[in-house]
Amino acid sequence: MYDHFNRHITYLRISVTDRCNLRCTYCMPEEGVKLLRHEDILSFDEIADFTRIAAHMGINKVRITGGEPLVRKGIVDLVEMIAKIDGITDLAMTTNAILLKQLAKPLRDAGLMRVNISLDTINPERFKQITRVGNINDVIEGIQAAKTAGLTPIKINCVVKESSNEPDALEVKRFALDNDLQVRFIPLMDLYTGVHGVVEGGEGGDCAICNRLRLTANGIVKPCLFSDIGYNVRELGARQAILKAIDNKPSCGGVSTNSEFYNIGG
Ligand code: 5AD
Ligand code: SF4
Repeated sequence: MYDHFNRHITYLRISVTDRCNLRCTYCMPEEGVKLLRHEDILSFDEIADFTRIAAHMGINKVRITGGEPLVRKGIVDLVEMIAKIDGITDLAMTTNAILLKQLAKPLRDAGLMRVNISLDTINPERFKQITRVGNINDVIEGIQAAKTAGLTPIKINCVVKESSNEPDALEVKRFALDNDLQVRFIPLMDLYTGVHGVVEGGEGGDCAICNRLRLTANGIVKPCLFSDIGYNVRELGARQAILKAIDNKPSCGGVSTNSEFYNIGG
């Protein structure tokens, strides 16, 4: 499917939960996170049915995001359901890697192909500051487990405040080089003000070539991260929600006042 700006829409990002086991300062408030009610969160069958229809309509690449996707109970089963869908040729996940030590192998066996791992620093104290609750050793072990399981190529998502030349980013770059990982630098974004930039080393953030749709954990199809436009899958059905989202995909992002990174998955 093509949108009105001749962009070929082939990429679906699925947020499977708004919960997370970290509290990154730029993503989540420390407390008082407004979480979705359980009954509003799509079931695995609903997500798989949606993805099947999306694949029929031309989606061939799927990324599973959160919140933190690995905290969703049964995530390995969902990966297996999605991996089996005809037409999905690329199946990836964005994760903080905290739970990858246990899950990398089962995920690979279920059909996950590769992972992007969020890591903004390799300094243990700075990691604790940024994530408020995280232990960097879990991430390092998670990366190792992903490698061993063959969830490759592994890409590191590194959020930067100013540029990829700031100290934390340089250390992450070195770590990535030493460990055979790719790295992309994501400029710190603000959904409310619409401040966003192009991801260095990736394809995100470049509106002219944006080929994405997003499905939120509560079943809203969103054509753009920086927009409040969204269509409810339970009300409209998958096909209509997808058609409307593509029909209304903005040429370029503006502002979003109705989502947060932890419920749209970046
Ligand atoms: N700006 C840029 N990136 C963000 N992410 C979360 N919040 C923000 C933000 N405010 C990124 C995380 C993760 C991905 C899911 O989204 O670093 O890699
Ligand atoms: Fe969790 Fe990712 Fe948000 Fe950090 S950026 S709090 S790991 S969802």
